[in-house]
Amino acid sequence: MTGHSARFRVWKFAKVACLGLTLVLLVVLLVATVRTLSLDVNAGLQLAQWENTDHIPPNISQQQRQQLLANFREAIRIPTVSFSETEQNTTALAEFSSLLKRVFPGVFASSLVKHEVVGEYSHLFWVPGSDPSVTPYMLLAHIDVVPALESDGWEAPPFSAKEIDGFIYGRGTIDDKQSVMGILQALEYLLEQGYRPRRGFYIGLGHDEEVNGLKGAVNIARLLKSRGVELAFVLDEGLAVLDGIISGLDGPAALIGISEKGSATVKLSVTTAPGHSSMPPRETSIGILAAAVTRLEENPMPRLFGHGPERGTFEHLAHKFGLPLRFVMSNMWLFSPLLSRVMERRPDTNAFVRTTTAITMFNAGVKINVIAPYAEAFVNLRIHSAQTLQEVLELVRATVADTRVKVELVNGFDPLPVSSYDESAFGFQIIKKTVLDMFPQLTVAPGLCVGNTDSRHYTDLTKNIYRFAPTWFKPGDPQRFHGVNERISMKNYEELVTFYFQLIQNCDITKLPEPHGSGHEL
Ligand SMILES: *[C@@H]1O[C@H](CO)[C@@H](O)[C@H](O)[C@H]1NC(C)=O
Ligand SMILES: *[C@@H]1O[C@H](CO)[C@@H](O)[C@H](O)[C@H]1NC(C)=O
Ligand SMILES: [Zn+2]
Repeated sequence: MTGHSARFRVWKFAKVACLGLTLVLLVVLLVATVRTLSLDVNAGLQLAQWENTDHIPPNISQQQRQQLLANFREAIRIPTVSFSETEQNTTALAEFSSLLKRVFPGVFASSLVKHEVVGEYSHLFWVPGSDPSVTPYMLLAHIDVVPALESDGWEAPPFSAKEIDGFIYGRGTIDDKQSVMGILQALEYLLEQGYRPRRGFYIGLGHDEEVNGLKGAVNIARLLKSRGVELAFVLDEGLAVLDGIISGLDGPAALIGISEKGSATVKLSVTTAPGHSSMPPRETSIGILAAAVTRLEENPMPRLFGHGPERGTFEHLAHKFGLPLRFVMSNMWLFSPLLSRVMERRPDTNAFVRTTTAITMFNAGVKINVIAPYAEAFVNLRIHSAQTLQEVLELVRATVADTRVKVELVNGFDPLPVSSYDESAFGFQIIKKTVLDMFPQLTVAPGLCVGNTDSRHYTDLTKNIYRFAPTWFKPGDPQRFHGVNERISMKNYEELVTFYFQLIQNCDITKLPEPHGSGHEL
């Protein structure tokens, strides 16, 4: 065998391989193009015939407009702050209960509505439907808020509900008193007009969502479960209307949360013998722990972008992106590794790519001349939908890779199940229809919540949990959430009241219209 023929064979192989690769690339390109061109631009069920029910038109008079805003502003002025799981402003919570009774007299006096207080300050309402054979649903919101200090840079005191240029400023205006008040205001108006639902519904207002909902949401859910209640769907806070927030997207989009990331708080600790700093050991507890923490930061969790519900978001929104992004978005099967690398560069988009790792506390040392006998750090991880709590813990242990570092789970839970959003998903389609009737210019897509809500405690009552309110977020607004200058426009608050007014009535259909000849009874 000569060198010449060997070289010839290599060349020939290379040529065939090259041809093969070109063919594969061509097919990939063709499939990708077809997918891009055949994007699902249809409005799906929106074109179908919806069942007619006696619908009371939303018609807010000038007097009602003033009244609903006055009620909302009173709600903002009560500082229902949750400082920690054990410390809440109970004076404010009690005051809030009185406010609800005072400003929604129709709800509390109605013989139709059953009201109970749960966990002292949370509220559960039940509005039975005229047709007990249809499965009820549930609306959730929370009364408590995170702390706020005017000195952090508020343009108006955080519990003043001051109006500036058409906006009401205050803690809770977008998290979550707009929904607490919006839901009850809508019910008040519906009852005023003699409305009686066909489909029964519950309203659950928790008072400790910001500190895990262990007294409010947990007890409401437990109570309903003990009564054998099953729900068609649950609608809670979570996502919103994003206008100019997603770069490259043409026009505003309503994202309906269909899942939430999981969470884990892990404690790392190192114990060593104490000693004098004049004769230190080669490694101290602080050094050992610092190295472990550094390994966690330097080795982020694997990229999983495209393996969770975030894929559905991009596929739904793809047709609203210009080229070349449209091409990329509609071919996540091909481009998700590339997109991951772009998205992981920014903290807000990295949150969709993987389980995030945040070292939030590091405590050690007692005296400047004493070798610290003990060092501890806390790591807060938010778990991507494609991983479990157990897998994440194993990865943390494998990355720390030092038996001197004790790794303990403080608390945590798996990512929430993904609720369905296809054409037969009753809750999703009702929310979508209600949004599109009010805002036909919006694109509606499923989305993932990177934070958590009270609704995570309701998984025993339904598989269909959605997280959305039509609160409009423009550039700069997401930072107001738990931040300074939280605000809502007066117009937007009125839209929220109308949204719930319409949603409640839209739920009265017994089944969704048939998109492709297949009905879906609930
Ligand atoms: C809405 O209410 C106002 C005053 O109550 C009334 O004048 C108007 O005709 C109503 N509009 C509709 C569409 O019902
Ligand atoms: C608690 O709420 C009351 C009003 O209900 C208020 O006067 C008081 O200042 C609040 N306390 C704290 C610590 O925020
Ligand atoms: Zn909230």
